[in-house]
Amino acid sequence: MNTEQANAKNLVIAPSILSADFGRLEEQIRRVEEGGADWLHLDIMDGHFVPNISFGPMVVKAIRGISKLPLDTHLMISNPDRYLEEFQRAGADRLTIHVESTAHLHRTIQRVQELGMKAGVTLNPSTPISAITEVLPFVDLVLIMSVNPGFGGQKFIATMLQKIRDTSAVLRELKREIYLEVDGGVDSSNARQIVEAGANALVAGNAIFNTPNIPGSVRALRASAVGAPRP
Ligand code: DX5
Ligand code: ZN
Repeated sequence: MNTEQANAKNLVIAPSILSADFGRLEEQIRRVEEGGADWLHLDIMDGHFVPNISFGPMVVKAIRGISKLPLDTHLMISNPDRYLEEFQRAGADRLTIHVESTAHLHRTIQRVQELGMKAGVTLNPSTPISAITEVLPFVDLVLIMSVNPGFGGQKFIATMLQKIRDTSAVLRELKREIYLEVDGGVDSSNARQIVEAGANALVAGNAIFNTPNIPGSVRALRASAVGAPRP
């Protein structure tokens, strides 16, 4: 079993650097590495698809230069097809695309994979999972947004637990080893329920970086959920 397969069976913790102190980014990344983070979650926002602007390929490249962790890159941008090569050149390992952002999702996913990256698909809280079922046989990851994308530190939308359960059931039917990741408002108080619902990858920004002990918070998040019974 390679590391990716072992992670899929266990639990991936992906700190979202959106909540990090960008003035001390390298040091903050060292802290999450020390805590045993599996991936770094990079939130790309364009001020158009979402009402906030974060950073683009230049910062992804800088992070690539300082960390060996897989870069789990979440594109919250309009017209993602225009930028796939740029993110690949910057060193992204995984690209996750919003179904709401592209007219030809299947083509976009194929292009991501042709470029040698893992392809994920994601959807806003108000988008039903039926919007992505046609591409599930092709993707490496499904990301369930449990807040409206755009900002860190929002509250987990509790009704998304059922969406995670439903998606997990569909994925089990497909019999594919595929990551089911959850993003938004994840912390030690709800991580166990989220994993019980079927998630095997957790993104967390606020619950990791806005705490006095960053490595301790990565460990605490994992400890709160790792032994939870899976569906
Ligand atoms: C929201 C982003 C998230 C966000 C998560 O648009 O996609 O990745 O940074 O942050 P928390 O864990 O603070 O909700
Ligand atoms: Zn994200």
